[in-house]
Amino acid sequence: MSIFRFPFFKNKSSKKHAIENKDMINDAYVLPEHVAIIMDGNGRWAKKRGLPRFAGHKEGMDNVKNIVRVANKHHIKVLTLYAFSTENWKRPKSEVEYLLKLPIEFIHTYLPELIKENVQIRTIGAFDMLPEHTKKAVQSAKDKTRENDGLILNIALNYGSRYEIIQAIQLIAKDIENDQLDVEELDESVFSNYLFTSELKDPDLIIRTSGEKRLSNFLLWQAAYSEFWFTEVYWPDFNEAVFEQALVDYQNRKRRFGGV
Ligand code: FPP
Repeated sequence: MSIFRFPFFKNKSSKKHAIENKDMINDAYVLPEHVAIIMDGNGRWAKKRGLPRFAGHKEGMDNVKNIVRVANKHHIKVLTLYAFSTENWKRPKSEVEYLLKLPIEFIHTYLPELIKENVQIRTIGAFDMLPEHTKKAVQSAKDKTRENDGLILNIALNYGSRYEIIQAIQLIAKDIENDQLDVEELDESVFSNYLFTSELKDPDLIIRTSGEKRLSNFLLWQAAYSEFWFTEVYWPDFNEAVFEQALVDYQNRKRRFGGV
């Protein structure tokens, strides 16, 4: 499978080439800058193999590293991964504990490689409500990769979009009350600045694995103009070829953002 890479992305000389071939400029061939993934199907992957759900989550955690490598290869700027939602607390205690230990294991196993690959780790979500050991490991990984300017690996951890929107409204109300913000100034761009994703562009492409076709409280505001891509493949099996299929399909979409 070949991904058409618009020359602009390659180097200075190809940038010149791109400018000389203005008629080639076509958004349909641009790769997404921000890809967000709902990593679903770990449990079913495990069940199919007669394994406990934990085994599926562990395999899914290892797959994160594979997909980071592919995202890096295609110069994607931001990869947001839905690792733990505000609704995931409803799962059995043992599964919740396991899911919240996975970021620690991920960092322990892969941080040296991620640093070598110039990846910057960030998170979105209600960070303070996470267990101390999870916070400590993740905060340390964020600190150690802060200066990296390659791919941003943005892990949605204890993230829920409705919670994010409510907390934005609370912050806005406080700023208005304290004369830090004039109510007339409030527009979409100002509102976006109060979200966890304030420093990131909206996702260009949202992928969900495992055949489910819903957002599940993920990036509701930010997804206003995202392209969606669904696959039956369970997250642990979501490999380079499947990811590249999503990228090729994205390249063939026409994004009009409400225009013509
Ligand atoms: C949904 O599958 C998946 C999750 C709730 C957890 C996703 C987490 C990972 C893939 C690992 C996290 C990695 C890092 C780096 C923190 P499910 O359990 O709902 O699957 P099912 O619908 O088949 O039961």
